[in-house]
Parts: sequence; structure tokens; C-alpha cells
Amino acid sequence: MTDNDGAIQSVLQEDRVFDPPADFIERCGGAWVESKEQYQTLHEQSIEDPEHFWGAVAEELHWFKKWDKVLEWECPDARWFVGGRINACWNCVDRHVENGFGDQTAIIWEGEPVGDAGPEVRRLTYADMQVEVSRFANALKKLGVQRGDIVTIYMGMVPELAIAVLACARIGAPHSVIFGGFSAQSIADRVTDAGSKFVITCDGAWRRGSVVELKANVDEALSMTDLVEQVVVVRRCENEIDMHAPRDVWWHDVVADVDDTCPCEEMDSEDMLFLLYTSGSTGKPKGIVHTTAGYLVHTFLTSRYTFNLRHHKNHVYWCTADVGWITGHSYIIYGIMQNGIPSLMYEGAPNHPGPDRFWDICQRHEVTHFYTAPTAIRAFMKWGEEHPRRHDLSKLEVLGTVGEPINPEAWMWYHRVIGHERCPIVDTWWQTETGGHMITPLPAATPTVPGSCTLPFLGIDAAVVDESGAEQPHGSGGLLVVRKPWPSMLRGIHGDRQRFIDTYFSRVDGMYFAGDSARRDERGYFWIMGRMDDVINVSGHRLGTMEVESALVSHDSVVEAAVVGMPHEIKGTGIAAFCTLSPDWSADDRLRDTLRAHVAEEIGAIAKPDMIRFTDALPKTRSGKIMRRLLRDVAAGREAGGDMTTLEDLSVLARLQDDED
Ligand code: WT7
Repeated sequence: MTDNDGAIQSVLQEDRVFDPPADFIERCGGAWVESKEQYQTLHEQSIEDPEHFWGAVAEELHWFKKWDKVLEWECPDARWFVGGRINACWNCVDRHVENGFGDQTAIIWEGEPVGDAGPEVRRLTYADMQVEVSRFANALKKLGVQRGDIVTIYMGMVPELAIAVLACARIGAPHSVIFGGFSAQSIADRVTDAGSKFVITCDGAWRRGSVVELKANVDEALSMTDLVEQVVVVRRCENEIDMHAPRDVWWHDVVADVDDTCPCEEMDSEDMLFLLYTSGSTGKPKGIVHTTAGYLVHTFLTSRYTFNLRHHKNHVYWCTADVGWITGHSYIIYGIMQNGIPSLMYEGAPNHPGPDRFWDICQRHEVTHFYTAPTAIRAFMKWGEEHPRRHDLSKLEVLGTVGEPINPEAWMWYHRVIGHERCPIVDTWWQTETGGHMITPLPAATPTVPGSCTLPFLGIDAAVVDESGAEQPHGSGGLLVVRKPWPSMLRGIHGDRQRFIDTYFSRVDGMYFAGDSARRDERGYFWIMGRMDDVINVSGHRLGTMEVESALVSHDSVVEAAVVGMPHEIKGTGIAAFCTLSPDWSADDRLRDTLRAHVAEEIGAIAKPDMIRFTDALPKTRSGKIMRRLLRDVAAGREAGGDMTTLEDLSVLARLQDDED
């Protein structure tokens, strides 16, 4: 079993088991799941009768009309809470106001720039959110947005982003959020694929002290498609932008003369809540479809249990992801707000103005729950532990990680330097497609082992199997699958039924195949080994190697390109590109820079290759398939190994290995 993504391998062998701290439950004033035994019992029951289990969770939400049936499942099609009527915004916002908790903080927002008086901070209570969301929902309606219209959101991390997302949910218009780091071309592709007529954006976004020109990117994207009728623009950075009347309108203008109240649409359980584009093995990114009720139920429960969120315990929860990724959707907005917990949103970079910015935020806002990615932890390690040491992190209760396997070195550092050896670490495995946590420790119940995401969440039937679906013996690698449907599973790929079936439900009969390989140890704990497809995980962000290859060959100089993952100290996986050039270009550093800029222009800065190697030929099989396995070895600086009998021309490989770039 090989993993394809070339992630860093750990040097540290750490097989100590870390039990939940003895005083954790007392310190936190209780826990939803209190012991390993309780977890085991609950998990067994939930797997035996998932409908009963999830039905009981769903009872906790607000419904306009109760469901008739918890689940209808005909692989690959799941329908959860059939016949129910519900609204996501109501459950995130109005419910708390109705229950008398309107004055509780919903969002704590901190801007990136730090002036003499410190950074700008905004606090919105649930009652404030009800008003702001209703006003913007009314504005959207006035602009012509109707139930079912897909609204594209391309914004920085400002409170208006959460308001926009919830306003869409309120009126039954599915949102499609695009991460602000993506290029104009990426926006155009996604707008076109979604058939979206409305875009919400900002003039700019602050990032490491400079302004990212979001509106200019939207303008460029919209020059490639004439689908879009209206663009709403939030004024944030006051950078100079073009406003094209009547297409472009300011947020502050459209909310100026609308009503403060707006009813929540009664949505069917299975109505689409949002589309979120993510990379796959082939072609352009695919629009993952999530629907309403199941997604809400799953993100509600996982937020509560994985982080041990408890109402009225002075929690301040901070997930450092961008709302442009699924992590931000599920664990900044939907899951956290359903639990009525203050969710902190930070606008900018972790090292602006200094490398201690995150710890300064944790101290000032008394953060109790902190959720970040291994790539960030590795960067903090490199910057030095004196930065967190200077700040009071004593309010922290639970630490979370997500996005890629965490190497034990980073886990131990997180545990020691940030958690002061008293905060459980929840290493959460899940995906854009799964909507919510799938394999994760529960902080008061699960003993943790650095590098393992431990055990399946309640109601989740995860397994490691071979191609026939047979469970693998402990210790041997296999395909990571989920054997039973779960509420927040994707319902499809927008406009591509066949790709949905082929990607997720064809590899192993009747089971969801995640694309990862994994093994289980003697405790039954899961260890994620890496992606098995041509997807790489760069700083926890998903990219298709083929997307990067297409971007490279779209430049005049490149005839053929092969992209593979390579170990990278901070990013986990870096991007290595091997290119053959057309004869009138010279293979030099200037061209390398040009190509890196070109990829950023085509996809976004996150896709810039870390290494570009020019070569006169790529290693191929006799049938013309590029042998990526060999390129991964070359990129990692390893001696290329394994079976080479199919290689067409051995000298190509020899030349690649001899070359230093
Ligand atoms: C891929 C999904 C889930 C939100 C962020 C990423 C990898 C994710 C872990 C983890 C090991 C992980 C997998 C997965 N991954 N979390 N805790 N341990 N690997 O979502 O962009 O859809 O990527 O990220 O390879 O398939 P995504």
C-alpha cells in the first residue's frame, strides 16, 4: 500500500499513550462523553441502529415540520430526515434569541491591522446577528435572489462573510464560497459551473499588512463570463476599485433601506444548503453538494462532542481556518453557532505584525478552544516557543488539529508548548465530502497517541478494507472507507452524477471510499497514511496534481508537465513540477519565476510549485503513462526504487537523478 502525496515522514517514534487529563472533566464543568467505556457503548449502539441514534440528535434542533423517516438509503443516494422542514439560519441564530440567549456573543471578530489602540475588534451577539442577517437577506431578495439561486461568495474573513452565508441559508439560496486566495480564473470556473448569477465580495482583504485585491479579481473573472447580474461589495480596505453600475452595488447601500426582519424559508431536509468546490484527481475542481438537515445534525453533534462545547461555560472557540474551506463552514459557522458558542474570526496572517499574533489573540480573548492545522503548528515550532511562552494560554481547554496527518513532533510541541500538557488534542480526520468530523478522539474519553486520529465518531462506521471490502487485519494498510451512510455526507457532485459514483462508490462495492489509505493498530486506532489518488495536501489545502499540470502547460514555454508531492518541512507536502520545454525557451530561474507566477494567476498562490525541474523528457511506461512514483522518489531526493520493468527509457530517470536544479 503506497501513499501518493509524498508527505513528510516522522523521525520521532512516539508511542506513548496520553490519557485525558485526570482533572479535565472537573475543570470543564462536565463532559458529554466521560470515558472510553461510555464511548464504546455509545459507538456500538449508534452503529447498530444509526437511525435511532441520529434521530435522537435531530430532536434537539428546531423543525418547522418533523421528519417522517430518518433515513432512506440506496447506495450511493442518502436521504436523511425525509419529509422534514427546517432552516439552517434559524438553528444557528433565531433559536438562541427565541430561547432568551440573544445577548450571548455569537461572533468575536478581530481585524489584522494593529493600530496604536490595538486591533479593531467587533462583537456581535446572537440578537445582533438576527438583525444583520435579516437585513442582508432582505437586500439579497431585493436584488432578485430567489430560493434555489446559487450565490457565490468571495470575501475576506470579515463578519459580513458569516452574515452573507447565513443570509443565503435564511432565504434558501445555496451559497458557494470561494476561498479569497483563489485566482480570477478559479472564480470564473466556479461561477460558470454553478450557474451563479450573484456574487458577494469585498473591495479587498488584509493579508500580512497588504491588501489582496478581491474586487479586481472578481472584475477579471466576470470578464470571462456574462452570467453574473449583481455584485455586492463590502467596503473593508478602502482600496481603489471599479464599480460597474448597475451590476455592482455597495453592501452598506443595499442594507440601508430594508426591513430588520425577514422570515426563514422552510426548507426541505434535502434541499441544497451549499456547494463547495474541491480538487479531485482529474479535471477542474468539483462542486460538492451538501444538503440541509443532515448537515446541520452532524455538525451540531460533532461540534458539541469533539470539542466538548458546553453552553454558558464562558467558552471562546477559535478555529483558525478560512470560511472558504469546509472547516470554516462546519466549525466556524454552522456547527459552532448551532451550539450557541462565541466563535472567533480572525482576519489575517498568524505572523502579523509578529510571530506571536495567535497567542496574543488567545490571551486577549481568553480562548478556550483552539482548532488549527498541522502546517501552522510546524510554522510556530520553527518561529520558536518563546512567542507562545510570552502569553497567558491558561484558559485553553481543548486543542484541535485538522487537514493532514500531524507528525508526532508537531503533536508533542502542540501538547507541551500550547496545551501545557493539560489540554487534550483532538486530531480530527474528515473531508469536504464528509461535511463533518468522522474519526476523532473525544477529549474526556479517548486516550490519544501522537499521529493517530484514533477512533470513529459516534454513528460512523469507518473501516480499513481491501478492494473486495474485507476488513484488513490490524497493522496492514488498506483503503479507508465508511460502510454506512452518515447525515452530513455529500449528496453529489454538482452536475456530474457519474463522477460522484466513480470517485466515491466504485472502488469498493457499496461503501464510501475516501481516497485515503490508512491502517489500524492493535488498539483499533486509525492512522491515516495519505491520499491514494492524484490529490496532494499542501499546507492542509487540497490540490489536484493535474490542475497544476494544466496550469503549467497553459504557458507557452511548457510542452509537458508532471506534478507530484514532495516532503516539505512546513507545508507537509510541497509541490514538485517536472517540465519539458519548447525549444525557444531557456531553462533558467527567470522562467521558473515566470511559471510560478503563472500558476498563481491560473489557480492561486497556494498552487505555486516549490520546485520546478526542467528536463528533456519525463519517465514514462511503454504505453505512455508518466511514472509518478519515480518522480516522487526524485523529488524527495530518494533513490528511485520499485519495479522499473515498465519504464520505457531508463536513461531518462538516470538523467533526472543526476541533475541538480
Ligand atoms: C483530506 C481532505 C477536513 C477539512 C480540511 C481538509 C486529509 C484531513 C486529516 C487528519 C490526516 C487528514 C485527508 C483527507 N486530512 N484531516 N486529521 N489526519 N489526514 O479537507 O480539503 O477535503 O481534504 O485531508 O487526506 O482525505 P479536504
